[in-house]
Amino acid sequence: MEFRFLVYLLTVILFTQCSFAITFSTSSSKLIHRFSDEVKAFRVSSRNGVEISSISWPKKKSMEYYELLVNSDLQRQKMKLGAQYKLLFPSKGSKTMSFGNEFGWLHYTWVDIGTPNVSFLVALDTGSDLLWLPCNCIQCAPLSASYYSSLDRDLTEYSPSVSSTSKHLSCSHEFCELGPNCKNPKQPCPYIANYLSENTSSSGFLVEDTLHLATTDDHANKSLVHAPIVIGCGRKQTGGYLDGIAPNGLIGLGLGDMSVPSVLAKAGLMHDSFSLCFNEDDSGRIFFGDQGAATQQSTPFLPLNKIYMSYMVEVEGYCIGSSCLKQSGFQAQFDSGTSFTFLPDEVYKKVSAEFDKRVNVKRSSYEGFPWEYCYEASSQELLKIPSMTLKFTLNNSFVVHNPFFLIYENQKVTGFCLAVEPTELKYGTIGQNFMTGYRIVFDRENLKVHWSHSNCEDLSDGKREIPASPSHDRPENPLPTNEKQTPHSQAVAPAVAGRTPSKPSAASPLFIRHFCMLGWLQLLLLLLFLSVI
Ligand SMILES: *[C@@H]1O[C@H](CO)[C@@H](O)[C@H](O)[C@H]1NC(C)=O
Ligand SMILES: *[C@@H]1O[C@H](CO)[C@@H](O)[C@H](O)[C@H]1NC(C)=O
Ligand SMILES: *[C@@H]1O[C@H](CO)[C@@H](O)[C@H](O)[C@H]1NC(C)=O
Ligand SMILES: *[C@@H]1O[C@H](CO)[C@@H](O)[C@H](O)[C@H]1NC(C)=O
Repeated sequence: MEFRFLVYLLTVILFTQCSFAITFSTSSSKLIHRFSDEVKAFRVSSRNGVEISSISWPKKKSMEYYELLVNSDLQRQKMKLGAQYKLLFPSKGSKTMSFGNEFGWLHYTWVDIGTPNVSFLVALDTGSDLLWLPCNCIQCAPLSASYYSSLDRDLTEYSPSVSSTSKHLSCSHEFCELGPNCKNPKQPCPYIANYLSENTSSSGFLVEDTLHLATTDDHANKSLVHAPIVIGCGRKQTGGYLDGIAPNGLIGLGLGDMSVPSVLAKAGLMHDSFSLCFNEDDSGRIFFGDQGAATQQSTPFLPLNKIYMSYMVEVEGYCIGSSCLKQSGFQAQFDSGTSFTFLPDEVYKKVSAEFDKRVNVKRSSYEGFPWEYCYEASSQELLKIPSMTLKFTLNNSFVVHNPFFLIYENQKVTGFCLAVEPTELKYGTIGQNFMTGYRIVFDRENLKVHWSHSNCEDLSDGKREIPASPSHDRPENPLPTNEKQTPHSQAVAPAVAGRTPSKPSAASPLFIRHFCMLGWLQLLLLLLFLSVI
C-alpha cells in the first residue's frame, strides 16, 4: 500500500519534473541512441536479394593496444600545470573504450572504488552529475560476462557494506536533495536519477566512498591518489539501463556540485578541468585536471538563466565543405553520454539538404537505421565527401572528423549514413560521434570548452613520446577481447543493414531513444529507501 502510494507520488512528481526539464531546463535534456537487441539478432539476411553474411563493425584494437595506451600514462605529461597540480586518471589507467552497439555506442572507463577496491566499467557522461553503480541490486542489468560478447570477465556489483571506506550520506547532507522528504534526517539519503522519456532511471541511496586515482611525478613514477566522492548505490535501474547502456554504472562529469570533477576540484586535487579524448578506433583517454594543448581552439559555455548548468555552447554556423549555411546557428550541449548528434529541426533541415546536394554518391536506405540520409559508397568515394565544420565565435572552428556511421560488408565499407538526427528541442546535442578525433577539454574554471586534434596516444602538447617499459598499472580487469568474438557476435553493429524485408514492422521507432535526462539533483526522490522497507 505504502509502495503503491509512493509509486503514484513518484509518477506525478516525475511527470511534472520532466515537463519542467523539457521546457525550461535543457541543461539536463539528454538523447541517447542505440540499436535494439532485436535488430542485433538479424545478423545475416538479404538485401536486394543478395545474401550478406558478414556485416561487421571494424575490429577493435587488441588488448595489447590498450595496454600500450596505458603505458603512455606513465610518461611525464608536459602540461602547463602548477606545481601543486597533477594530471589525475583512474588508477586502472586513463584509457576509455567503446564497445559499439552492444554497450550503446558510449565510451567507458574502468574506475576502482572502495576498500578493498573493486573495478567498475562506467559510461562517461558529460551530460549528468551523478556517479552511480549497480549496487545491492533489486533490479540491475545482467553483469555476467556470458551476457556480453565484448567482455571476458563478469562485471561487479558494488556493495557499500563490504567497503570499509563507505559511509551513508544522510538525509541532512547538503547534497541530499530529497532530504526534506525524509522521515529522519539521519536516514540514508535516497536518490532517483531519471531518463524519463524512455522510462530509464537509476535509483537507490547515496554513499560516500573512495575513488582511486593515479598520477605520475616528474620521473614518471606513478602514485595513487584516494579521493572521497559521492556515489549513487543504484539498487534499481530501468529502461535503457537494463538494456545494454551502462550496465556497470555511469560517471556523471557535469558541472553540478556532486560530479566527480567538481568534488576533485573542490578538494584541491586538480585544476577544475578535465579532458576526454576519443580516437577513431573506439579507444580514448580521460584526464582530470587537464587544461589542454597550447594550440587548442575554444568557445565559452553558455549560461541558462544566468546559471552555468551544463556544457552548452553557441554554434554560430554550420558549413558543408566550403559553403557555410545562412542562419544555421544553434545552441548545443557537448554530451559524451549521447552517442550520436542531434540538431534542432530547422538547422537539421538545412544541413542535411545541403549535404545531400553536395554528395555525389547514390542515396540508399538501410532499414532500421534512425538516420534519414544514407548512401552507398566505397571507402575511396568516402574521401570525396564534403567535410562538416561547426563555426564558433572569434573564428574558432570545429571540423567534424567523423559525422558518418559507416556500413561494412565483408570488412569493406559499402555505405554510410549521416549520423545526425533532428530534435524538436530548442537545443542540439553534440554527441560522442562528433567529438571523435579530438581531445576535448572541459575547462570549468574558465567556463570554456577547448578542442584540439588528437589520436589520444600522447597528450603532451603535440610532442610524441615513445611509450616506455611495462606498465605499472596493467589492467587486471576484463577488457574487450577480439578473440572471444565469434563470427556471430561480430555483427553487433550495423547489422540492421541486412534486416529481412519480411519483418519491416519493427522499424526505426524502436531504435530511436530519446532520453529525457533530468538533472538528477532536481529529481532526487524518496523512492527506494521507503518502498523497499
Ligand atoms: C587495490 O587492491 C589491491 C589488493 O588489495 C592493491 O594491491 C591495489 O594497490 C589497490 N589499488 C588501489 C588503486 O588502491
Ligand atoms: C514507459 O512506461 C509506460 C508505463 O509503463 C509505458 O506505457 C510506455 O510505453 C513506456 N515507454 C517506453 C518508450 O517504453
Ligand atoms: C622514481 O623515478 C626515479 C628516476 O627514474 C627513480 O630514481 C626512483 O627510484 C623512482 N622512485 C620510486 C619510488 O620508484
Ligand atoms: C577571422 O578571420 C578572418 C579571415 O581570416 C579575419 O579577417 C578576421 O579578422 C578574423 N576575426 C577575428 C575576430 O579574429
